[in-house]
Amino acid sequence: MSSETAYAKINLALHVRRRRSDGYHDLESLFAFARDGDVVSLDVPRGEGVTLSISGPFSAGLDAGEGNLVVRAARGLADAFGIEAAVALRLEKNLPVAAGIGGGSADAAAAIRLLARHWMIDLDDRRVAALAGQLGADVPACVASQTLRGDARGDVLTGVEGADALSGMPLLLVNPRIPLGTGEVFARWDGVDRGALAGGDALAAAISGRNDLEDPAIMLVPEIGDVLDFIGSLSGVVLARMSGSGATCFALFESEAALMIGAAMVGAAMPDAWVCATALR
Ligand code: C5P
Repeated sequence: MSSETAYAKINLALHVRRRRSDGYHDLESLFAFARDGDVVSLDVPRGEGVTLSISGPFSAGLDAGEGNLVVRAARGLADAFGIEAAVALRLEKNLPVAAGIGGGSADAAAAIRLLARHWMIDLDDRRVAALAGQLGADVPACVASQTLRGDARGDVLTGVEGADALSGMPLLLVNPRIPLGTGEVFARWDGVDRGALAGGDALAAAISGRNDLEDPAIMLVPEIGDVLDFIGSLSGVVLARMSGSGATCFALFESEAALMIGAAMVGAAMPDAWVCATALR
């Protein structure tokens, strides 16, 4: 059985610059990815069409039907390349849902990588990029799952300096287990352009940057503020911030030892939170 990890997406910085007329916002973001995530696997051949079964700690209440982004990605890829799809897919949902770390977008992207391999489709084919962009603004970044800068809706991607130096950096993810809808958070953005994301070295740009969705997300879920205060005060933290539209917050640590101590302290102080000690890939 072949499988792909749907790596958790982190926005090291997320600058919201303006509202657009299509319901989206123009952004400048630094995407990075954790080594951990959901897992999308393939059993073939089995049955007809595309089927999906979902398991794992965050599978409860998820729709495995037509509306699921994994099913839409599989159907969309088959249609774009004239392939008769007969695939049974499995999704192991390890990441919290509606959490600002990719979720459905990373799952769709993992399904695209998995099925492109299976059907011998070149991931650089422009039909793959077109499908990814249609599935969601973050899906193109999640297909790459590398440290990248995203402009426009977050889907115009360019490489960044210093991306290799970030690989392996100890990373803590903390989610207060309160789901937050992306559209809802963007709708509360105050419309103030707080300025551009810096160019140059990725870590320096991230540290000097912001997540403009923190304040609107904290308005909806005040617990995010508590998580940020707590993880920002841990020793050895290089950067602590909310990811995407929240509610997941992350901290980058200077050492593995500092990460382990930090994770234990968060676990003790916030026993109900979801905590994942991992690293940037
Ligand atoms: O593209 P996706 O379906 O993941 O986006 C979810 C929602 O997030 C959009 O409907 C929109 O409300 C908001 N969004 C936005 N600007 C972006 C990305 C997402 O307003 N650049």
